[in-house]
Amino acid sequence: MSGKTVLVSGGAGYIGSHTCVELLNAGYEVICVDDLRNSKEQVMERIERITGKQPIFFRIDLCNYDALDRVFHSYKIDAVIHFAGLKAVGESVEKPLEYYSNNLNATINLLRCMELYGVNKIVFSSSATVYGNPKTVPITEDADRWCTNPYGWTKYMSEQIISDWCVANKDASAMLLRYFNPIGAHKSGLIGEDPNGIPNNLLPYICQVSAGKLEYLRVYGDDYDTPDGTGVRDYIHVVDLARGHINALKYLDGASGCECVNLGTGVGYSVLEVVKAYSEACGKEIPYKIVGRRAGDIATCYAATDKARELLNWQAELNLHDMCASAYNWQCKNPNGYEQ
Ligand code: NAD
Ligand code: UFG
Repeated sequence: MSGKTVLVSGGAGYIGSHTCVELLNAGYEVICVDDLRNSKEQVMERIERITGKQPIFFRIDLCNYDALDRVFHSYKIDAVIHFAGLKAVGESVEKPLEYYSNNLNATINLLRCMELYGVNKIVFSSSATVYGNPKTVPITEDADRWCTNPYGWTKYMSEQIISDWCVANKDASAMLLRYFNPIGAHKSGLIGEDPNGIPNNLLPYICQVSAGKLEYLRVYGDDYDTPDGTGVRDYIHVVDLARGHINALKYLDGASGCECVNLGTGVGYSVLEVVKAYSEACGKEIPYKIVGRRAGDIATCYAATDKARELLNWQAELNLHDMCASAYNWQCKNPNGYEQ
């Protein structure tokens, strides 16, 4: 498919920007649509510094159907990668209508435009959150799905909407990618994760502790049924994750119907193992305190990776040290994120 044009929704965001780099390096034309509600336009220039090419960028809210229609009307688009959405679990519990409205309308508007302009291929950012509290690990794609928060339900519902759209459109093909825990940054240190305010997720929080912006990490619980009592997750390097999208596009080229695939490493690490790996990567101790469990957290979550290998010919290549070292490099080079 290289040489073809891919519309990337949410392409200025954390995973979207890394995927734009991989797409441009692989020879795709990239049209990025993002309203920058959780990202910065400087990302586009950083992408150009890495790849020598800039995506075509439109600052558009995907909930604005007419604006999106104008983009589809103006370009011949071959495929869509749909990242745009709100993603904070806790916030989704406080603002469920905002989450349902944004995440579902964005998905529906994209599919409506795709249908109108004959664009048949979509890769969708889903999440391991659709598995809820898994009965067994590693989690296979046919495991039961059940969500515990509105954010998760928007992923569950978007998966259903896309799957139904494929049933109704015989030429359509979709890949629902269920990400585990993306961390790390591009090796250039030019793009990375730039959360607003105090981070909720483990790695961005550790990064800010290492930079002296936060005093210590709170480890949420050491009484889980895991080897050291702290939560175990499948952390995956964001560049490996981004590469997975290229493989998904290639797969869709010869496919019809809707498939779902886990993107993880298949290996689980505990919070304390991540703290140790990050300390080694940055050469500093990361102070932490054990506190109570965080509401809604589960003990253990990691992916079965066979389907990704078999269907997409993809597997993760970078290890936990690469993830921590690249996150530290990004943090050092951009202490205030994209704000200079
Ligand atoms: P991000 O917030 O960095 O990127 C999402 C982008 O979408 C942002 O740039 C934001 O401005 C944009 N956006 C949101 N609503 C929009 C709208 N209505 N119109 C236009 N742009 C809009 O998040 P990310 O970490 O890069 O995640 C990308 C996708 O992957 C999301 O759908 C997220 O739910 C999913 N995901 C992320 C993780 C994770 O841990 N980061 C895990 C699983 C799934
Ligand atoms: N943790 C801490 N202290 C912190 C932050 C996190 O101890 O300050 C622990 C958590 O308790 C958990 C682990 O670190 O055991 C990972 O927590 P994250 O918040 O980084 O990630 P989650 O697994 O809770 O959730 C993430 C995304 C979700 C997504 C899910 C599966 O935030 O959106 O991965 O993909 F659904």
